[in-house]
Amino acid sequence: MKIRLRRKLIIFQLSLLIIVTAFASIITTFDLQKYYKNRILSELQTHVHAIKFILSKSDQVVKRYEINYSYLTGYAKASNLRLTLIDSLGVVVFDSNVPEDSLRFVENHLYRPEVQMAMTGDLGIDDRKSATINKPMFYMAMQVNPLREGGEISQVRFIRLALPLGDIEQVLEDVRWKIFWGGGVALVLIAIISYTLAKRLTMPIQQLSFAAEAAKKGDLNAHFERTTNDEIGELADVLNEMLEKLRHDLIQMRKLERMRSQFLGNVSHELRTPIFAVQGYLETLMLNSMDESTRRSFINKAHSQAVRLNNLLRDLIDISRIESGEMKLNFHSFRIRDWLGKQVEEMQSLAQERNVQLKYLNHQDSSDYRVFGDQERLVQVIFNLVENAIKYCRPEGIVQVGYLAKGTNVEIWVSDTGRGIAEEHIPRIFERFYRVDKERSRAVGGTGLGLAIVKHIVEAHGSFVYVESQQDVGSTFSFSLKRDV
Ligand SMILES: Nc1ncnc2c1ncn2[C@@H]1O[C@H](COP(=O)(O)OP(=O)(O)O)[C@@H](O)[C@H]1O
Ligand SMILES: [Mg+2]
Repeated sequence: MKIRLRRKLIIFQLSLLIIVTAFASIITTFDLQKYYKNRILSELQTHVHAIKFILSKSDQVVKRYEINYSYLTGYAKASNLRLTLIDSLGVVVFDSNVPEDSLRFVENHLYRPEVQMAMTGDLGIDDRKSATINKPMFYMAMQVNPLREGGEISQVRFIRLALPLGDIEQVLEDVRWKIFWGGGVALVLIAIISYTLAKRLTMPIQQLSFAAEAAKKGDLNAHFERTTNDEIGELADVLNEMLEKLRHDLIQMRKLERMRSQFLGNVSHELRTPIFAVQGYLETLMLNSMDESTRRSFINKAHSQAVRLNNLLRDLIDISRIESGEMKLNFHSFRIRDWLGKQVEEMQSLAQERNVQLKYLNHQDSSDYRVFGDQERLVQVIFNLVENAIKYCRPEGIVQVGYLAKGTNVEIWVSDTGRGIAEEHIPRIFERFYRVDKERSRAVGGTGLGLAIVKHIVEAHGSFVYVESQQDVGSTFSFSLKRDV
């Protein structure tokens, strides 16, 4: 991935440079050419005027049919020009590049483009390859007045100058080469810079991609290195956060999985005990001949195990419905005083059985409140809490149930004068199947699920179960319901 990205970046930068260099060289040479032409033009103009002046002034240079050859040749040589003088018929009467005695071989110049142009009165200009020396030349021609100072008439009608363009071509060639070499050096430099830049840019991306690859293969401890302080760095942070979340979710999932299998183990263990017991009692009853009272006690024992089994199944169904989210709460507003009183009343027989005093405080005089809740589920909560209070109470002990308003809530509490719960057990008694004293719980028909159910239902009401307990003194369980005001 990084190789491709890096190569793309470099190719992009280099092509950019090549395009820019090409344009620069085209524009510069074009401009340069124009500039040179203009300079040549003005140079030739100066010369053509100077020659015109000389022709008009000096008797020494040109008389009617006499031209001072060496003077004009000298001028042309010194100015690096070719000077031609042409008469009105196009006959060349002087040429700085042609000896005097060869002039008659020179062809007629009347139809040279610059001469034709000069005939209209303007400056005649042309650039082309010279027919005589076969080199690119720049030409300028000017018509001159044959009437000279002093009234004499000159045979010269056109002054024509020619300058070899070879010089300019040479200069332009030089410039092109310089641009070419400069561009080449720049290309190498930029290639180096662009390579290091691309490397710096793609390195962090490459590291991220390595880490992502590792994460993809399941290494959740992979870490996205934050090497830069830019968008890539930010990306690394985001990816790390994402991975952290994944890690957390996975740990959570594994924990849930472990709890599930633990629960399954617990369930089968809990079910097996009463089933084996019932089976044992029944087998004994079938085989042995025994007296009536022993028989009765065996039947009672089998029955109580069956009841336990039934309770266990009921609690298991409840807890699985709650935990699967199948249980939907139906919130209603209801009056707490009589409702709670009724629940306590229903538990009186169990209390009597256990020789425990069960009291409902606040049941006549105190104010009545309306609260929100699912009555059916709250019955289960009260039942489980009061049942525990009675079962884990001392004989002759006292269990009290009451409520009191606290702000916008009504707190319901259940207290007992029982054995209490050691502090280290308190956080755990709400776990499924957790019992402080297994033997005692079993003896009183507990399933170990009661408080887990209580916790779920109370939390679904937006509250918590609070426990205050002192060993050998007693415990108080409480939770709150929202008041309907
Ligand atoms: N009022 C209480 N006094 C002392 N211990 C209690 C009381 N309520 C609950 N416990 C402890 O918490 C454990 C869990 O209670 P619970 O979930 O109702 O299961 P179970 O009552 O079936 O054993 C009990 O086994 C008991 O050890
Ligand atoms: Mg219980």
